[in-house]
Amino acid sequence: MVRRQSELFLPTLRDDPADAEAVSHKLLMRAGLIRQVSAGLWSFLPAGWRVHEKIVGIVREEMDAIGGQEMFMPVIAPAELWEKTGRITIPELFRFADRGGRQFILSMTHEETVTFHFSELSSYRDLPKILYHFQTKGRDEPRPRGGLLRVREFVMKDAYSFDRDEEGLDISFQKHAGAYRRMFDRCEIEYYEVEAESGMMGGSESIDYLAPSGSGENTLVTCENGDYAADLEIARGVPRPPVFPEALDRPTEVATPGITTIEELAEFLGIDPAATSKAMPVTTLDGTVVLALVRGDDRLEEAKLAAALRSPFRQSTEDEIREAFGADPGSLGPVGFRGEIVADTTLSEGQFVAGANRTGWHLRGVQLGRDFEARHADIRVPVEGDACPNCDGRLRFQTAIELGHIFKLGSRYSAPLGASFLDEEGVESPVLMGCYGIGPGRVMAAAVEQHHDEHGIVWPRPLAPYDAHVLALHGAADEVLQPAVEVAEDLSDGGLEVLLDDRAQRPGEKFADADLLGVPLRVTVGKKTLEDDAVDLRIRATGADERIPREMLRRRVEEL
Ligand SMILES: Nc1ncnc2c1ncn2[C@@H]1O[C@H](COP(=O)(O)OP(=O)(O)OP(=O)(O)O)[C@@H](O)[C@H]1O
Ligand SMILES: [Mg+2]
Ligand SMILES: [Zn+2]
Repeated sequence: MVRRQSELFLPTLRDDPADAEAVSHKLLMRAGLIRQVSAGLWSFLPAGWRVHEKIVGIVREEMDAIGGQEMFMPVIAPAELWEKTGRITIPELFRFADRGGRQFILSMTHEETVTFHFSELSSYRDLPKILYHFQTKGRDEPRPRGGLLRVREFVMKDAYSFDRDEEGLDISFQKHAGAYRRMFDRCEIEYYEVEAESGMMGGSESIDYLAPSGSGENTLVTCENGDYAADLEIARGVPRPPVFPEALDRPTEVATPGITTIEELAEFLGIDPAATSKAMPVTTLDGTVVLALVRGDDRLEEAKLAAALRSPFRQSTEDEIREAFGADPGSLGPVGFRGEIVADTTLSEGQFVAGANRTGWHLRGVQLGRDFEARHADIRVPVEGDACPNCDGRLRFQTAIELGHIFKLGSRYSAPLGASFLDEEGVESPVLMGCYGIGPGRVMAAAVEQHHDEHGIVWPRPLAPYDAHVLALHGAADEVLQPAVEVAEDLSDGGLEVLLDDRAQRPGEKFADADLLGVPLRVTVGKKTLEDDAVDLRIRATGADERIPREMLRRRVEEL
């Protein structure tokens, strides 16, 4: 096909939009591919939708290749379904009522609806199955940002697997992991497969696909030797060991008047900040006060602590602290505290300075196991330069985007929604499920984050809105336009999707727009090239130019 640019709705912009920070946000806007309707609500303009649909095509092929069956479920769901699974209280959920006052939600994902359908089946003979669809999701995100990176309405491919046992679930999960790798490879996106926190979805195993990017909300932690990759929220790092002062036979009080920070404390005592500890009292859902302890130079990772506690938590209030410790909030430490203590594994060995549960005093020589008992858990935030947990390489940090996410759900949804099956012996069990999501819009933004230069987007070929961009120079005067049309049609006959710039614009503007749009092959037809009965071919990715006789172009392009 040949699309004439004079007819295309492709409003390009010379300058960056004022409110945009992410490169993908700027370039997708400037290239005329997307436009904002309201915060987190975006329209894809025609060329942008072509890119989106190319990604959709790749995802669909890979899902079909693992035996996925495409279906289609409505965005709107009755609130009852979400009440049954307890997800009705999720803050991101859009809720509304119909004219009769009946409550509905905009699905932010489709576990409830698909499990509702699957509950119709009842035999082991119906298993396993993989069902998927492409459907709009609504999410009332607290902070929409970055163009397509975090939006409030987007198309997701969400797939669901149904198996009779853990072994089957594992097979379905691995199939999806393979399909996801192939999708991102085909999109030519650099990504890392990392173990992830299953968060509020409540599953036993999950993998995130993270793409390094100039802008993103995840931090990817990798080992310089390539044997470790994780999301910062769950990454493990091995920090340098502290320089300990001389060991003491028992904890010894030391007056530390007016000292409130770890830096002041370390300086005052003349010790390494890494040889101090920091205590954070938190209160779990059932009201228990727990003391979390990390090294003085570390920060507490709340997601890790929540996982260790198997409960969300909040900072304890002053009253709760006084009651649990009999001390002021500023002076807390583990010695003498009778409640539960979770200590970071860095505190397992050695003696640390700790709060004395007495304002203006600390304890030196506090040793876990001797002076207090605690659960050991990794609850610290790793820092760049920590050693890798697998080797002695250093950890590197990069900003990244989550492209996709796959989970084992087990019976999290099948149990409350009654999706069960009878086995050969007539024994009833809940179906075991997995769920597998990917947002083509976010993948599109990630592709731009990774593939661009100072002039614009450099689309990977499988995602490009067109394969070739033919530019008719000299205001597209007839003697240039006619040969340009022939060139475009010739390429189209060869199977390429072609955009023909037949507008009256000056050459400089045409080149600038072409660079911005980032079509992989640019073919320029002008008076000069025609004098040679030739065209100029430029590869967008490398900037390599060549003048090619007109009749050779198609063959040359096929070689690329
Ligand atoms: N607000 C959003 N905007 C654009 N794409 C999104 C958004 N939320 C999720 N996605 C896409 O849908 C996929 C699956 O959704 P899932 O519910 O697993 O995401 P999530 O864990 O909520 O993601 P995040 O941690 O970024 O909020 C994501 O990997 C991403 O590609
Ligand atoms: Mg989310
Ligand atoms: Zn390593």
